Amino acid sequence: MYGLVNKAVEGLVVSQFGRPTWDRIRKRAGIEDEEFIGMETYPDDVTYRLVGAASEVLGLPPDKVLEAFGEYWTLYTAQEGYGEMFKAGGNSMREFLGNLNAMHGRVELIYPKTILPHFRCEDQADGSWWLHYQSSRQGLAPMVVGLIRGLAKMFGETIEIAQIADRTQGAPEDVFSIRRLA
Ligand code: HEM
Repeated sequence: MYGLVNKAVEGLVVSQFGRPTWDRIRKRAGIEDEEFIGMETYPDDVTYRLVGAASEVLGLPPDKVLEAFGEYWTLYTAQEGYGEMFKAGGNSMREFLGNLNAMHGRVELIYPKTILPHFRCEDQADGSWWLHYQSSRQGLAPMVVGLIRGLAKMFGETIEIAQIADRTQGAPEDVFSIRRLA
């Protein structure tokens, strides 16, 4: 993944636990580079190792680290100059989710070597939505939960989210049920 992602993992750890903790995590993950370069691509393994090491050092399950990371990512990208992209994505969570692939398409213009996931939003009769998430990568569904929580904060919405199909349990794709409460 692009260094931007690893830099965001660093940003999350440093902002909540301080730089010495980050250095421990980085070393435990076996990463020599003191700094990631946002526009450079790194093997996915680097990101997975960072998540694993953060989980060990912070004493949190890896899923919780990924979820916290997803939530932080919305804040981080908005601050790192992608705020306009968020604004162009819509005025509500539902509108934004419908535009997510198009938004990531613009990301691809900036980061041409990116390998992006695919999302599909399906409205349900009871007013909730199902978000279908397809990715060539494994194990990132908890990150999507965090991303949705971060978006909800951004739009000032209260939502409920539950995963209703799970690739790690043999489902063909991950699916989340999202309901807006307020
Ligand atoms: C302006 C905001 C955003 C930017 C700039 C952005 C950019 C990126 C970039 C650069 C990657 C790494 C891909 C790679 O290096 O191959 C990525 C991955 C990803 N993005 Fe976004 N993204 C944004 C918002 C979102 C939002 C709101 C979601 C909500 C669901 C999302 C879901 C994901 C997921 C799940 C991945 C992991 C890759 C995978 O599943 O294979 N992104 N994004």
